[in-house]
Formats: sequence, C-alpha cells, structure tokens
Amino acid sequence: VSVDSDDREGLPWSWKVPALESGDQPAMLYEPGNWGDVLKGSWAVLIVEAQAKAQCRRVLRYLDPYAGSPTYPLTAASAQRLSWLGAGRFLDAQALWLEIGRLASTALLVRAAGAACGLEVRLEVFDSDPQRRAAWCEQPGVRVLEAANGEAVLRAADADMVLVDPYDFLDRWPEILPLAVQAAQGGAVLIYLYNKSPRGSGHARNYKRLRDAIERTAPSGVLIGRVPSDVVLPRAFHEVILLAPPGLAESVRPELLRTTKRLACKLSTTGAFEDAGASPKDRGSTGGPRRQRR
Ligand SMILES: C[S@@+](CC[C@H](N)C(=O)[O-])C[C@H]1O[C@@H](n2cnc3c(N)ncnc32)[C@H](O)[C@@H]1O
Repeated sequence: VSVDSDDREGLPWSWKVPALESGDQPAMLYEPGNWGDVLKGSWAVLIVEAQAKAQCRRVLRYLDPYAGSPTYPLTAASAQRLSWLGAGRFLDAQALWLEIGRLASTALLVRAAGAACGLEVRLEVFDSDPQRRAAWCEQPGVRVLEAANGEAVLRAADADMVLVDPYDFLDRWPEILPLAVQAAQGGAVLIYLYNKSPRGSGHARNYKRLRDAIERTAPSGVLIGRVPSDVVLPRAFHEVILLAPPGLAESVRPELLRTTKRLACKLSTTGAFEDAGASPKDRGSTGGPRRQRR
C-alpha cells in the first residue's frame, strides 16, 4: 500500500504535472482530471442545468475569477482514472474534449451544458497567469477581464453563477469567503476546497473555523459535497461548497446528492478491501485507478 502521493505537508505548492507532460501548458500546480475536477465539474454542470430549468432563463452570466486555462492536455494518469470511472455527468460533459485528448475547463463545460439546454452562457474569466489569460483571449465569445487579481474580480462580481477555485482556498478563506458570500447575493457561488483536515489538528481547526464562518455569514442554501483524494489512504478531501438562493439549492439538491454519493461510493468501496497477496493477473481487474494526485 503506497501512501497518498499528494503529500505537500508544510511545503509550498509543488508542480504536479511537469511542463514536459503538460505539453502546451506551463507546468500545473495540480493534475487536471483529478477527483476534485470530477466532483467540481459534475456540480457545475448540474447547477447550470438546474438554473436553465428552474428559472426559464435564456442567458446566464458565468464568472470564473480563477479560470486556469480553457483546456488541458489529458495526461495518461487522468485518462486511466476517467476510464476506470466509466460513466457519469463529468464524462458525458467532457466527451467532445476527451475524444481529442484534452480536458475542458469548468467554464467551457458550463457553456456547453448550458447550450444543450438552450441557454446562452456568457463567460467572463480572469487568471493571474498571463499565459492562461492569453489562451482565453483565443476562445470566441469569452470576455477576459483585466484586474489586479481574482479577489478584485470577485469583489466586483455581477453574475448568475461564480466559481471560486484558487488553489489554496483553505489557506486564504478569511479573505475570500466574505467576497464569495457577497457574490452569492446575486446568484449561485460554487467554491472548490482542498480539505487537508486529515493531516493534522491545525488543518482540522482551520476547516472548522471556515465551516463556522459559512454558517454565520452564508445565505440559507448551502450544500457541500466531498470525496476522498485517494482510493486507499486519503490524506485530504476534495470538497465543493455551493452557496445558492434557496429555490435553486432545493431544485438542484437531489441530483447533486445522487451524483456525489455515487462517486464517493465508488472511490471508498474500491479502497475498502485489498487482495494484496494475489498477482494483478489473478486479481482479475486493473486494480482500480492509479494513485490519486490532486
Ligand atoms: C485550479 S486552477 C483553476 C481551474 C478552473 N477554475 C477550472 O475549474 O477549470 C486555479 C487557477 O487559479 C489561478 N490563481 C491562483 N491564485 C490567483 C489569484 N489570486 N488571482 C487570480 N488567479 C489566481 C492560478 O493561476 C490557476 O490557473
């Protein structure tokens, strides 16, 4: 049994996908196509579909102040992970990009999911990385914002749906959560969080403070989904937090619950039992996905 390969305890963010493997992208701080992306992408697609249905709207303004790149190369590890996953909303949404060996950003997934429901999704994006901003400029119909940082973009947010997804929300939530809560007064806000609570009491206390702050300040509709970072020995959880107007939270809740439990169940039950003595051939399976990297 190997340990979770995502071991960054006490270290600054490390490069997860070296420049060589990331192809046309600068080196990434995490591996696109990890379980967190699966969870986040599934939620984003379900939320946009619920908004299309519930509010009979024609246009949805989507803001991503931490947008990353429009697309990413599909690494061998992510391809193997997604092939093991087999089916689900994330794979359906990514199908067009997977066919050409790429993974779409959440913003492009949301736009495609909206279009499939007859909704025009207007994308506004920002990223502190100039190369990623330049890549967005090449995407038709996307407004690339100019700002000092994602927080400034979030502070001025005026959108129906906002994704809050810097790498380090757990470390920076005291600054960013109030901005997200304010943005939630105008629409749905989806936050991605890499929850390091299993790594020690300091992280767990910090997470508890975050949850208390959400309870104190967030609007009434708060839904939270969580999956382990690793099938065998998770040392963190991928977590998504939806701040939404009550009507939207109610309408999207059943699908979010079903999709999240299905994914969590597959990950947890795979790691629950190991036939460690048998050779991989005798085990009669691929042995599940490779070790998870964030
Ligand atoms: C996890 S990636 C974003 C993925 C994207 N939201 C998606 O779901 O497809 C995080 C991005 O946040 C950017 N970032 C980190 N801190 C930032 C800041 N303070 N302002 C703007 N962008 C930031 C990084 O450059 C990186 O591209």
